[in-house]
Amino acid sequence: MTRRQASAGILATAAAVIAASIGDAREPGSITLPPPRTEGGMPLLSALKVRHSTRQYSDRPLSAQTLSDLLWAAFGVNRPSGDRTAPYWRHVMVMDLYVAMADGVWTYDPKSHALQRHMTEDIRALTGLQDFVATAPLNLVYVAHGERMTDVSPEERRLYASVDAGFIGQNVYLFCASEGLATVFRGAVDYQKLGRALKLPEQQFVTFAQSVGYSG
Ligand SMILES: Cc1cc2nc3c(=O)[nH]c(=O)nc-3n(C[C@H](O)[C@H](O)[C@H](O)COP(=O)(O)O)c2cc1C
Repeated sequence: MTRRQASAGILATAAAVIAASIGDAREPGSITLPPPRTEGGMPLLSALKVRHSTRQYSDRPLSAQTLSDLLWAAFGVNRPSGDRTAPYWRHVMVMDLYVAMADGVWTYDPKSHALQRHMTEDIRALTGLQDFVATAPLNLVYVAHGERMTDVSPEERRLYASVDAGFIGQNVYLFCASEGLATVFRGAVDYQKLGRALKLPEQQFVTFAQSVGYSG
């Protein structure tokens, strides 16, 4: 199988299947994604013209390549400095992207463009208060490291972290518009429950979530 064929493999539910489809699992619990596509796509103004929220999803999974492209567009490294496709507060890296799928939860490591296993449970239903979140193939959860936000009040922490999440969310919206994918940014989340389900340390907190998939 060529790398191109491997990259086009469908992300199925089991981690082992994902790893096999990508063909590059470096260690148990870590998956290197195929290199992201960083050129092309729909012209920006055309994507803006069709950007919208979707609340009905089919269970069609994303391919490994689409997941790779999506995560890079969301908050990947776009410069040698290590900076990202979205701006962020005070040049302090506060935000982690959790990727909740049927096979469990992963965290996105932009530097290595890899997914790190976080847990094997399917917690998609806990990522929001709307029914479709349980079956959408992918729910992104934007988690902030409050402990890295020094010199600001708890209110300001939530404010700045939410703005960081909003920029990432808009990147996801525009990528989805360009690729014909469905998405919705979501604040209707039981934050305490989701934080507990994700086993977040005390200072980390969920800002928003965002479903991604195909319209169904
Ligand atoms: C901060 C924020 C929170 C949102 N929370 C939810 C949500 O919990 N559930 C939902 O279905 N849509 C949510 N949305 C999406 C908005 O409802 C949607 O963007 C708005 O209705 C405009 O529709 P459009 O995105 O199709 O243009 C949220 C959007 C923002 C910016």
